[in-house]
Amino acid sequence: MVSRVIPVDHFDLVLFGATGDLARRKILPSLFHRFIIGQFDDNSRVIGASRSAMTQAEFRDLVSKALKEFAHPEDATPDNIAAFVDILDYVAIDAKSEQGWADLAKPLRDNVVRAFYLSVAPSLFADIAGRLKSTGIATNDSRVVVEKPFGHNLASAQALNAALSAHFEEHQIYRIDHYLGKETVQNLMALRFANSLFEPLWNSSQIDHVQITVAESIGVEGRGEYYDKSGAMRDMVQNHLMQLLCLTAMEPPARFTPNSVRNEKLKVIEALKPVTQDDIARGQYRARQGGDSYREHAGDPSSTTESFVAMKVEVANWRWAGTPFYLRTGKCLRQRASEIAVFFRNPPHNIFEGDAPAEGNCLVIRLQPDEGITLHTTIKDPGPGGMRLTTAKLDMTFADSLPEAGRPQDAYERLIMDVIRGNQTLFMRGDEVEAAWAWADPIIEGFSDNGKAPQPYDQGGSGPDDSLLLMHRDERRWRDIGA
Ligand code: BG6
Repeated sequence: MVSRVIPVDHFDLVLFGATGDLARRKILPSLFHRFIIGQFDDNSRVIGASRSAMTQAEFRDLVSKALKEFAHPEDATPDNIAAFVDILDYVAIDAKSEQGWADLAKPLRDNVVRAFYLSVAPSLFADIAGRLKSTGIATNDSRVVVEKPFGHNLASAQALNAALSAHFEEHQIYRIDHYLGKETVQNLMALRFANSLFEPLWNSSQIDHVQITVAESIGVEGRGEYYDKSGAMRDMVQNHLMQLLCLTAMEPPARFTPNSVRNEKLKVIEALKPVTQDDIARGQYRARQGGDSYREHAGDPSSTTESFVAMKVEVANWRWAGTPFYLRTGKCLRQRASEIAVFFRNPPHNIFEGDAPAEGNCLVIRLQPDEGITLHTTIKDPGPGGMRLTTAKLDMTFADSLPEAGRPQDAYERLIMDVIRGNQTLFMRGDEVEAAWAWADPIIEGFSDNGKAPQPYDQGGSGPDDSLLLMHRDERRWRDIGA
């Protein structure tokens, strides 16, 4: 089976912030991979835009270098790169003045999809959206893509939504959360809603609890200034972990359409109970031999921003009452490992007297690395000597089970092509983002109100002791990171 590539319509994509880090690392390499795989041809154009004065040739050169550094080496051949940079154009533009806007209008064509990707600071969203509209460059069919962070609290997210919706309709606005473009995240929906096996068990009578972990091995390094104003709560929980929680907990949508899916996700966020500070553990990584601490990376020796957070979350509805969701995410942990682990209840009665009681099953949906799904089952320990029980894994690592599918695509590849297709299913709706901030704001305010600094933790471990205690208190324990 060769993965199917369905060509998209011809497009003009304007990339604001085209010389920035995200553009070079993710957006341009993703476009490149989709181009060489044949999803679009040289009738589509990518127009880089940023403040830097630069010729088209200089921009193409910058992109070539970025592709050599960040694209998959086997794809980044001189011929492939030459073919791709041929579709690139460049316009120097100032979001805050008239400069460059007339030049941007020139290369744009009628009768092709027009998309504007704002890979810039959110403080520029309103200016760019306004000028796109006032100059007539954005039409009623154009799409505008915005990156996270979408605000730093409810009020700022509302202001951004208002600024965008002054110029664009909701169906034109694509708010990116790149976790939604990850293959296994989409697979979670396939697993739940394309199989009859799981859904009857997917509720609090059968599920004891759920653990959602996004562990990273890297620290904040060069991003200290941004990160110190965000912390793990704003940087990861309000968006990425929230999306994982929603897809795990939501009711089956009637259809796989943007609003059916997003309506169900919104209902989950609205059903979340307020989280008290007692149900939260925060941590900050300390220095290790020869390495810097969080505070050194953040450039603030007294920073109280968390680089780790764990919490107990409750979805107060019929399906989930009594089944907690434990979320945890952090930097500088043992390894990069993200997963959703669904712990089923223990069997109601143990017939194997004298032996250790059978444990409940655990379904692990692995996002990264080694994307796949594992079901932990209890079986008989093979061999003679009576009836002893042990656990075994029913394992489906996608790379092994579906080798013909080839290398998994990066989340951005999928998401950018969805923008061109006009499919918003994997993008956040304005009300969804606001609801997530409305839930997160009181938690973040509580951090400063309770005056408790994050607990230091060792790099390369599994986070602060408070996180272990959070589970211990409920007579549960975290799965080992990367187990
Ligand atoms: C970003 C955060 O949104 O997601 C980063 O700002 C984080 O701090 C990153 O490292 C994690 O993404 P991924 O795809 O590497 O898990």
